[in-house]
Amino acid sequence: MGFKIGLLGLGTVGTGTAKILLDPVQRHPLVKELELYRVGVKSLEKPRSLELPPEIVTTDLEAIVTDPAVDIVVEVIGGLEPARSLILKAIEHGKHVVTANKAAIARFGDEIFTAATKAGVYVLLEAAVGGGIPVIEPLKQSLCSNRINAVMGIVNGTTNYILTRMQNEGADFADVLADAQRLGYAEADPTADVDGLDAADKIAILASLAFGGRIKLSEVHCEGIRQISAADIAYAEKLGFVIKLIAIAKRDSQLSSELEQLQVRVHPTLVPKTHPLASVNDVYNAILIEGDPIGQVMFFGPGAGAGPTASAVVSDMLNIAAILKVERGNSKQANGTPLLDPLLACSHQHYCAIAPIAELSTRFYARFLTKDTPGVIGKLGTCFGNHEVSLESVVQTDVRGDVAEIVVVTHDVREGNFRQALAEIQAMDAIASIPSTLRAL
Ligand SMILES: NC(=O)c1ccc[n+]([C@@H]2O[C@H](COP(=O)([O-])OP(=O)(O)OC[C@H]3O[C@@H](n4cnc5c(N)ncnc54)[C@H](OP(=O)(O)O)[C@@H]3O)[C@@H](O)[C@H]2O)c1
Repeated sequence: MGFKIGLLGLGTVGTGTAKILLDPVQRHPLVKELELYRVGVKSLEKPRSLELPPEIVTTDLEAIVTDPAVDIVVEVIGGLEPARSLILKAIEHGKHVVTANKAAIARFGDEIFTAATKAGVYVLLEAAVGGGIPVIEPLKQSLCSNRINAVMGIVNGTTNYILTRMQNEGADFADVLADAQRLGYAEADPTADVDGLDAADKIAILASLAFGGRIKLSEVHCEGIRQISAADIAYAEKLGFVIKLIAIAKRDSQLSSELEQLQVRVHPTLVPKTHPLASVNDVYNAILIEGDPIGQVMFFGPGAGAGPTASAVVSDMLNIAAILKVERGNSKQANGTPLLDPLLACSHQHYCAIAPIAELSTRFYARFLTKDTPGVIGKLGTCFGNHEVSLESVVQTDVRGDVAEIVVVTHDVREGNFRQALAEIQAMDAIASIPSTLRAL
């Protein structure tokens, strides 16, 4: 007896998923037992690259998630609604769920996992972060003996593509974005990618798994890459860095374990060229995990695309099918509720405490346009010193007319102190403007 799959969505990921199910040769033998039973779409008239028997394709998605014959519902329609309602209805009807939908999980994970735990079903989401890169399952299973201290990575392919091209071509953001849109690497509305929102969804999911608690998305500090200029990339290069959009979740080591808070943030970051994430270019993604005792492990690969994402979706289905195969006919707890595999299920009850960004301690890069009056560097140094901001390097470069450009990189400083110093510097007569400030790893 096989497993009946209700596939919601036959777009990029849905088509990739169906292709794997219809071509099981030389894959794991369990793939043959996954039956593409129903497929839900918005339009029956739309031309498709994959021909399916017409009787399995429907626009009635609710009928799929409530069909008693369906074992696993695969949600790859995307967006918030009706995805959320369909996932919840599937759970209510006892279906296990596989989803690639980071936006819905980051916002409604609380509601979805509470319902899933109550119903005794799995909700798996390997494809939601890093596309084809296995990172969710390793965090839940292969690395679960570790105390995880940090998860950081490049989790948005569009912004990595844009920053890589800016770096290679010395081009400005707007020009590269327009070209990326023309080539299909960026959406017509690029907001979710370039403003860091997609990366924030993903790091919220990773942080939740790494640190064993729920994460409020509104507490994830999020900055995008619109303000990055060719000048910043060039200065970063001279100073030994590349600029990447980095998503970070880490334990705040300054606090005692009882009061432990997390830092969860997304922002453009100066990454030292020697750092493992510095060489992750183009649309590729990578996630670096630091655990005790394992040390650092990095997962690298294609963060999107039909095939890679479908690879993750079908692996989730196989994980569920493998458990169902064992479970069928046994494994109820004494109270009658189904017994879930604790490494696969998600049953966090509490929210993690997130440290305010002002408490963050990190290195900063700042670029100042100054009126080329004598002693400006001294004034900057004194002001930073008054706020306990010590400088690692100071570079004074181009003098254009009577305006000079000064770039500083600090040692690790408290963000609140750095911002206070900047506010004072901004008010100095000698300062024309502060075009950019960026954090550094
Ligand atoms: N694309 C990637 O590389 C990638 C990578 C990682 C994760 N994901 C995630 O995977 C999910 C799907 O992405 P995608 O790129 O495959 O999307 P897509 O190409 O836009 O496909 C969406 C599919 O869902 C169907 N659909 C949408 N709204 C519907 C509705 N209200 N009722 C019925 N059907 C509906 C569409 O039907 P029609 O075909 O009839 O229009 C289409 O088949 C998203 O959550 C996305 O974030 C995608």
